[in-house]
Amino acid sequence: MRGKHIILGVTGGIAAYKSAELVRRLVERGAEVQVVMTASAREFIGPTTFQALSGRPVRDSLWDSAAEAAMGHIELARWADVVLVAPASADFLARLTHGRADDLLATLCLATDAPIVVAPAMNRLMWANAATQANVATLRSRGVRLLGPGSGAQACGEVGEGRMLEPQELADHLAMLLVDSGPLSGRKIVITAGPTREAIDPVRFVTNRSSGKMGFAVAQALREADAEVVLISGPVHLPTPPGVRRIDVESAAQMADAVQAELAGTAIFIGTAAVADYRPEVFAEKKIKKTQQRLELALARTPDILAGVAASADRPFVVGFAAETDAVERHAREKLVRKKLDMIAANEVGACKAFDCEDNSLLVLWDNGRAELPHSPKLELARALVRLIIERWQAQGGDAVGEHAGQTR
Ligand code: CTP
Repeated sequence: MRGKHIILGVTGGIAAYKSAELVRRLVERGAEVQVVMTASAREFIGPTTFQALSGRPVRDSLWDSAAEAAMGHIELARWADVVLVAPASADFLARLTHGRADDLLATLCLATDAPIVVAPAMNRLMWANAATQANVATLRSRGVRLLGPGSGAQACGEVGEGRMLEPQELADHLAMLLVDSGPLSGRKIVITAGPTREAIDPVRFVTNRSSGKMGFAVAQALREADAEVVLISGPVHLPTPPGVRRIDVESAAQMADAVQAELAGTAIFIGTAAVADYRPEVFAEKKIKKTQQRLELALARTPDILAGVAASADRPFVVGFAAETDAVERHAREKLVRKKLDMIAANEVGACKAFDCEDNSLLVLWDNGRAELPHSPKLELARALVRLIIERWQAQGGDAVGEHAGQTR
């Protein structure tokens, strides 16, 4: 989003307080944000907060001669790379549908050729009302994009559809919309994430502590870079990043099958999943009863999905992950060579390190190079990793020939 110009329209609704957080999320990604408030928005939140967070005076009137002299409303409409209205009230959706130009925000929407994105927020019955739904259908047919609404508890005490999406979600969606076509544009990337579950009997399984957070963050960062992302995930409690195609699996064998089925045309494969290395040798069809003092569970190796992809004929660029408790660099480099990977991202695991944490750090290795990505939130780390992957992939000529990078190596 660096350097992108965003007009954030704030209309009258209790969710307007969340727009302050939204400004922060957009600014921290490098966007320039100009907040435009309607008169009713000012009943919910003051402009000073927005001015402080965006670093720009809020615009709220067509008739403010000083502001118009600095940047007239038509110039402002041209300045925008996108207009995001969040929250978008039922009244604003109606005005937008009818092409009204009765305040600055509505006028800007008429005068801009930038994409218009609205994040509706209103009482569930106002949202469900046939008038609102007809307006929404018209807006959609004209190319206005809708983000949300989500459902849940509402400020009015009711429960249902009509909540504005969370600021982080809105910022993520917008980042995707604003992406310039880059080297990953339209390239298919397959990524595995999360743990696998290896069944012992119908009610028990062997698994591990992986939360899937790192893999989901990498999938999101790839999608932000305009890649076509297929995320093959073990059982996790995480929402699918916007625009990502997700395939849910349970066991290592199912994950291996799903990867095989998706491999054609894949430019880059990234294995972030903590695939169980062993599965119970036999699956007990019926629940195992506690009849013995000791119970031995025989385990058999699961297929190594990553090494399998690296050994395939039309192999894509292959990135592995390594979780190590000691001698991180030595073990990871050994894995890079043994599994014939193009790149490996290693992290130290242990008490509150890497697994199920919000932050992480990575040591990234390739044939004759290394990079340390310092401790940071997983999404930031994922974005840095994606930049490195693109560099190495391009250095190997991955993007040079043909439509399908998978056929170039
Ligand atoms: N991997 C895989 N299929 C497996 C096991 C692992 O695809 N059956 C992938 C993981 O997604 C990850 C990398 O291989 O990218 C991890 O390699 P692995 O050899 O399992 O290393 P560790 O998990 O670090 O464990 P160990 O050191 O015990 O080998």
